[in-house]
Amino acid sequence: MKIICLCGSPKGPVSVTMQYVKYLELKYPQHEFVHIHAAQQIHRLEKNMEFFDEIMEKIKSADFVLWAFPLYILHVHGNFKRFIELIFEFKKEKIFEGKYCAAISSSINFYDNTAHNYINAISDDLGMKYIDFFSAHMNLLTKSEGRKKLLGFAEYIFNCIDSKILPAKHYDKIDYIEKPYLPGAGLERKSKTGKKVAILADNHYNNLDKMIERFKNSFADETNLYYLSDVDIKGGCLGCLKCGPDNKCAYDKKDGLKTFFNDEIKTADIIVFAGKIRDRYLSSEWKTFLDRLFFNTHQKTLIGKQVGFLISGPLWQLPDLKENLTSYFEFQGANIVDFVSDEPSPDSIDNQVSGLAERLTIGSRLDYIKPATFRGIAGMKIFRDEIYGSLKVVFKADHKNFKKTGLYDFPQRNFFGQMFSNVAYWVTSLKFIEKKMYADMPKFMILNYRRAFSKKI
Ligand SMILES: Cc1cc2nc3c(=O)[nH]c(=O)nc-3n(C[C@H](O)[C@H](O)[C@H](O)COP(=O)(O)O)c2cc1C
Repeated sequence: MKIICLCGSPKGPVSVTMQYVKYLELKYPQHEFVHIHAAQQIHRLEKNMEFFDEIMEKIKSADFVLWAFPLYILHVHGNFKRFIELIFEFKKEKIFEGKYCAAISSSINFYDNTAHNYINAISDDLGMKYIDFFSAHMNLLTKSEGRKKLLGFAEYIFNCIDSKILPAKHYDKIDYIEKPYLPGAGLERKSKTGKKVAILADNHYNNLDKMIERFKNSFADETNLYYLSDVDIKGGCLGCLKCGPDNKCAYDKKDGLKTFFNDEIKTADIIVFAGKIRDRYLSSEWKTFLDRLFFNTHQKTLIGKQVGFLISGPLWQLPDLKENLTSYFEFQGANIVDFVSDEPSPDSIDNQVSGLAERLTIGSRLDYIKPATFRGIAGMKIFRDEIYGSLKVVFKADHKNFKKTGLYDFPQRNFFGQMFSNVAYWVTSLKFIEKKMYADMPKFMILNYRRAFSKKI
């Protein structure tokens, strides 16, 4: 069988993900593996049509396509996203149609699920026969149990192909035709902010420009509008981890992204991110920008900011996109106020845009930050455990920051709390107390809340 591996790491052959592919190659010498380093070679693929067609010819000859990608900022790397965009831009969908495919990723399992959903959906869009995915923690291959699991995956996929199974499609085609947004004449509300407002868009698009205009006009005082296309960004994240020791980036002194982010975005009180959906995510330019923000490694960069989104495109058909953006910015410590898209909705776009401006302002005035949900909390626990474990060797700045900011909240340092719960554990194990406790569980559960209602606090 000829297996084409579409490799999504900017590091090419020396990437962690490729070690998983190479291991399969070693174990299945009867199959031919062809590696296409789509993310690493993106500039050549973009500029050299001959090279792009050469790659497409290889894919045409494949019996099976393996998407092999690492997780970069809750998704595929910006370069890999660009490769996927190019398939559609150059209208090469037919080449992929009807081919069996599966996906393998390496990561620390932070939003690997939504990244795999994306690849599944793109495979469905391309008319491929998507079988399954394998999401490896980056260290899985170092463990014999992990290697066994990986081979199990390969056996499963090869057996499915041998049996000519017809996998179910999971994603409908996106049903969206852009309707021109015609902003209404007057604005009912004007908000005095006294706050610094930054709007960051990737580029100019019809509806988006008008939404931004409406949004800007919803503020009495000045707003700052920036376009990624104007920011000096020399390239995508290299995955080199030079940011690990002290948050220095390989691009420092080479381009202006870091200065732009630190001076213009990080200093704003209200931040609005604006973009147009391309395939099932924002543009690869947006993705590249988010990847590059990794110079901050796993430290929160937008604590206390009010964040909103203006999106042109079928946002409500892409719950994973909303989930991803919400999670990323929630993890950064921001208050996610809302998303507005230009899709048909019961409320007018005018109202939604102006309402968003109003709510961002109120949130900012009140310094309102809602508690993090599972997204922010679970994400932080993954990072805490990873950095405390082996990753502190690489991410020294995170280790120092987590220690300083109390993010290493385990083992529980609350000595008296721990002592109390240990005693309570034994006391409530006494049969007659246990019986009483479970008989009256609702009352037991609110025992602690009495304090909140006491007059003293
Ligand atoms: C810039 C950057 C962003 C990352 N973002 C994520 C992420 O969102 N979720 C996750 O689980 N792992 C994330 N990781 C960890 C990588 O997915 C993991 O190290 C992977 O094995 C790298 O694979 P590669 O060597 O093939 O590029 C990130 C790593 C880097 C360098």
